[in-house]
Amino acid sequence: MRTIDKPGVLPIRHLLLDPSITEIMINGPHQIFVERGGLMSEVKGLFTSPAQLEQLVDNLIGPTGRAVTARSPMVDFRLEDGSRVNICIAPISLHGATLTIRKFTRSIRSLEDLVARGTLTTRMARFLALAVRARLNLVFSGGTGSGKTTLLGVLAGCVGPRERIVVIEDTAELDLSLPHCVRLECRPPNLEGSGGVPLGELLRNSLRMRPDRILVGEIRGDEAFEMVHAMSSGHDGSMGVLHASTPAHAIGRLELMLLSRGLSLPLWAIQKQMAASLDLVIQHAIMPDGVRRVTHVTEVSRAENDEVVLQDLFTYRLHGFDPDGRAVGEFVSTGVRPKFHEKLRLAVGEDEVASLLAPGPA
Ligand SMILES: Nc1ncnc2c1ncn2[C@@H]1O[C@H](COP(=O)(O)OP(=O)(O)OP(=O)(O)O)[C@@H](O)[C@H]1O
Ligand SMILES: [Mg+2]
Repeated sequence: MRTIDKPGVLPIRHLLLDPSITEIMINGPHQIFVERGGLMSEVKGLFTSPAQLEQLVDNLIGPTGRAVTARSPMVDFRLEDGSRVNICIAPISLHGATLTIRKFTRSIRSLEDLVARGTLTTRMARFLALAVRARLNLVFSGGTGSGKTTLLGVLAGCVGPRERIVVIEDTAELDLSLPHCVRLECRPPNLEGSGGVPLGELLRNSLRMRPDRILVGEIRGDEAFEMVHAMSSGHDGSMGVLHASTPAHAIGRLELMLLSRGLSLPLWAIQKQMAASLDLVIQHAIMPDGVRRVTHVTEVSRAENDEVVLQDLFTYRLHGFDPDGRAVGEFVSTGVRPKFHEKLRLAVGEDEVASLLAPGPA
């Protein structure tokens, strides 16, 4: 029986089936929210008792062969349709089980789909597609649910058919239709705390798998070093995701991850390495009108005076909100000439690069 047809799943079945809902958030039996079109709304009266919610948890997790217990109260897994589920129970969740279900939607498959949603403009989309073809190293930065994985997945479609891609994720969700693609997923440790395979280990291993490019679902800690190293050592065209609220914050977080790796490298050396390895930070945000936008496409330019110098190529300029709460603003190109200008020129010619990067409305 499909998970969605199980009796315990009935209270949320309609939410799982509703294509307009992108996320279901259950904070115990009496507080449930859904996200539609980037906006949250509350849903009342789904569960009449805590036991019903416990049954939902059992029915969702059952087929995965995983367990969520007081000793191991958090779990991540996927449903058959690819939706991503996180469950926390007591004692860490204080009001009954907390479920966060990120539904898997196939509605965004192309750059055009993202342009149609107001996430970026056609010119920015063309620029990013070129950035992938020209093998720039990209970091996708943004808050939770801001669209990082989605854009990375779409842009991965611009990778050449003859390239070998290794995808490394904590919980596999990047379902790429690429002809030559290896997918690796971390493994959590067992209840005794052994047998886990963390991201950093997968990344180290992936370097021995002859990848042309490496895509990392999320850079959080130790593996940052391997990632930056890979980017600067023949795996250019790699991509990684990072949680940060601005491009500068993303670079700051990476710096910290590299420093705390304890390699006793001075800060300037780390910054030099970062500037040599990274090319672009693509910043995502869910704006108050519910639209997910690429707010910055920023070049990681160089290291100078104990600082990694960033230069915006495209930004979203917000002027305000109209009476209906929609953002009023525009995407603009700054006209900056990036360090990788030559790489772009070799890929598509001077005229195309000039038109993509010309200053003004993007
Ligand atoms: N540009 C977009 N416009 C509208 N919806 C989008 C856009 N990008 C992603 N979404 C939807 O928003 C949800 C979150 O997207 P995604 O998983 O890409 O975010 P994320 O930043 O990777 O989140 P997380 O931080 O949890 O990894 C998904 O349901 C996805 O379909
Ligand atoms: Mg993601």
